[in-house]
Amino acid sequence: MTTPTTPTTPTTPTTLTTLTTPTTLIDGIGLLYTGDPEREEITDAALVVEDGVVAWLGPAAQAPDADERVHVGGRAVLPGFVDSHAHLIFAGDRTAEFEARMSGQPYTGGGIRTTVAATRAASDADLATHARALVEEMLAQGTTTVEIKSGYGLSAEHERRSLEIATTLTDETTYLGAHVVPEGADADDYVRLVTGEMLDACAPYAKWVDVFCERGAFDGDQTREILNAGIKAGLQARVHANQLTEGPGVRIACELGAASADHCTHLSAADVDALASSGTVATLLPGAEFSTRSPYPDARLLIDAGVTVALATDCNPGSSFTSSMPFCVALAVREMGMTPLEAVRAATYGGARALRRTDVGWLRQGARADLVVLDAPSYVHLAYRPGVPLVHQVFQAGLLL
Ligand code: NIG
Ligand code: FE
Repeated sequence: MTTPTTPTTPTTPTTLTTLTTPTTLIDGIGLLYTGDPEREEITDAALVVEDGVVAWLGPAAQAPDADERVHVGGRAVLPGFVDSHAHLIFAGDRTAEFEARMSGQPYTGGGIRTTVAATRAASDADLATHARALVEEMLAQGTTTVEIKSGYGLSAEHERRSLEIATTLTDETTYLGAHVVPEGADADDYVRLVTGEMLDACAPYAKWVDVFCERGAFDGDQTREILNAGIKAGLQARVHANQLTEGPGVRIACELGAASADHCTHLSAADVDALASSGTVATLLPGAEFSTRSPYPDARLLIDAGVTVALATDCNPGSSFTSSMPFCVALAVREMGMTPLEAVRAATYGGARALRRTDVGWLRQGARADLVVLDAPSYVHLAYRPGVPLVHQVFQAGLLL
């Protein structure tokens, strides 16, 4: 690998649309991280975008002609981040809860009910405007694909409207009626609602079904029942598993063929084995450990066991109010034993695997042209320069944002 040079000022086009420019050559890429396991890094690279997808990529010296050229001045380029776990449909504020935690209070998940009350009281328009602002905050930090969960409505109508709003922002919508049992409800009655009327109302707006499998939320039997009902309704499973305690969530996720087990903070050896021998991705959410001042999951152990790992923000007002994948990459490297390469892979390729997507999370011929141009010579700077706004440009489906 040649040493990347310091970026110089690029020639930035004022307009770039796939409608008026059939092909665009992006060159001057000092280091291209592709996310494609077959050819993960290319130095002195170029890439051609056509109709929103990658038409060609390789060494700049071999680049074909194109109608338009964008020179990125030696900067590093990587696929847009895939944030596979976020709770963006909510209202209200939990600053005081965070502040109390930083004075020693533990995180229990009980604050979810505070957000439920505020979310129910908010108008559709306010919820949509707020969620859109968070998606834009994410885009500015390089996230070009995001999953959005319900889970702060907890009635058939409030969950349905949360998901309907989510569908205006992403294709990756998740029904999380089973976040907690709402105030005053009987647990058995609530599981019946989540697997019955609420599921019927929500399924048309959701791709995924999720359950918070945890002491104080839903136990193993309830989790199985809710996931199976969702699968029967045509949804695919993902699970909030082993966040606060070493419960049955991870094993249930693997057993039911869930795309992902998320959090994975407290794992037994059997949990690690189950993940390693299943196709279930372990999605790690270091923003949650940061914001709840908890021990981080052991990414090193999972990777060494052969588990596919994803990184996501878990953006929500309670346990992890960050929209920043670069921040999560830096935490994963510093606190979870991941190398910078592993962390960037988990934030792109890993996230796509966790959403069962093959069109995003990597740059290869035919993939969506979602690119992040960093104001740095290498993706390593995401961890080396934590907290620094390094995202220089973002392309989504070939469009410069
Ligand atoms: O993934 N753990 C469950 N759900 C969220 C937190 C929700 C909240 O505290 O509002 C999470 O961390
Ligand atoms: Fe979550």
